[in-house]
Amino acid sequence: MGKILITGGAGFIGSHVVRLFVNKYEQHHIYNLDKLTYAGNLENLKDIQEKHNYTFIRGDITNKDFIDELFETYKFDSVIHLAAESHVDRSISNPLEFVYTNVIGTVNLLNAAKTIWGCSKDKVTENKIFYHVSTDEVYGTLGDTGLFTEETAYDPHSPYSASKASSDHFVRAYHDTYNLPCVISNCSNNYGPNHFPEKLIPLCIYNIKNNKPLPIYGKGENVRDWLFVEDHARAIDAILHSGKIGSTYNIGGHNEWTNIDVIRLLCKIMDKKLCRVDGTNEQLITFVKDRAGHDLRYAIDSSKLQHELGWKPSLQFEEGLEKTVDWYLANEEWLKHVTSGEYQKFYEQQYVNR
Ligand code: NAD
Ligand code: TYD
Repeated sequence: MGKILITGGAGFIGSHVVRLFVNKYEQHHIYNLDKLTYAGNLENLKDIQEKHNYTFIRGDITNKDFIDELFETYKFDSVIHLAAESHVDRSISNPLEFVYTNVIGTVNLLNAAKTIWGCSKDKVTENKIFYHVSTDEVYGTLGDTGLFTEETAYDPHSPYSASKASSDHFVRAYHDTYNLPCVISNCSNNYGPNHFPEKLIPLCIYNIKNNKPLPIYGKGENVRDWLFVEDHARAIDAILHSGKIGSTYNIGGHNEWTNIDVIRLLCKIMDKKLCRVDGTNEQLITFVKDRAGHDLRYAIDSSKLQHELGWKPSLQFEEGLEKTVDWYLANEEWLKHVTSGEYQKFYEQQYVNR
């Protein structure tokens, strides 16, 4: 692996991937490239920031000249690409930002990798890999039954999933046209520590703690397949090392829950943790206007990954959710900085953005 570039490493999933790799692969160097948008937070990586095999670089993947120069300087051996705009609701109000980062940013990285690795159709490039991290949302929505497999046709509905689908297509096109050694994974909804409190689970943890309403879109009947974030990071590690070049792997928890059931369970866990009478937190549940184009159900068939690479989720949802609540209750300062925007003011003074 040698020099590993991880993009979006200051975000939710990226920070867990960076931590895993920095601690596990001391002989390799991990470069974390992140623009530090509202979703990027170096507090997520406080525990590893001084490690000898870790370097943080602030920069924007949409800046082609900067990306070309970066690859020319460091000559990375592997790229794990997670940087993205990731929130569906933001994509509905500002789709263009998603096109810039998720589509153009990805193509800039593909181009830079192709150039420094000298990829072309008539040559096989050894010992290099471009790993693109994507989402199950590219497959669209399911009815009451069935699972997304790697063969399911793409059918994205939100500007977010459309931009991720587009980036996946570019990755496959670079593999087929230029022989760029690529692999893609499409994962279901993640949850766990360091999740930005605009997404359902951390938002509701924050609101329960502060006795605020818990906004449930529509009737709360939409189904998501939840996976603990560290299990996703382990899957990425397995695929990077043993995945077949040119392949796609679905990653999921076999753990389907309606939104209302997730929030009821969360309320119950937090009644106990906050020493509130049973049923207190459920009174905060508030049904609000549904999200436009809201996909009904996501569910992943991850049997290819399980059979080929021996990966499986390590945590039951109840256990993972309790662990997540414990983390948020123990990390009040993190939550305070994120909700006040304090962390961003600090970065503006510390780092030049390119
Ligand atoms: P996130 O929003 O928490 O983090 C994204 C990171 O990318 C942030 O640190 C941000 O600063 C950085 N970034 C954004 N724009 C950038 C740019 N132009 N240049 C450089 N850095 C930039 O997202 P996440 O939830 O950690 O998701 C990471 C990846 O995993 C995304 O590609 C997402 O599509 C994918 N994914 C997420 C989930 C999920 O449930 N969160 C599930 C499956 C796949
Ligand atoms: P979210 O965490 O935004 O992830 P995604 O849209 O990528 O699945 O939302 C998870 C589910 O929760 C989704 O069905 C939308 C719903 N939701 C709410 O009901 N209320 C909220 O405030 C949010 C943010 C999401």
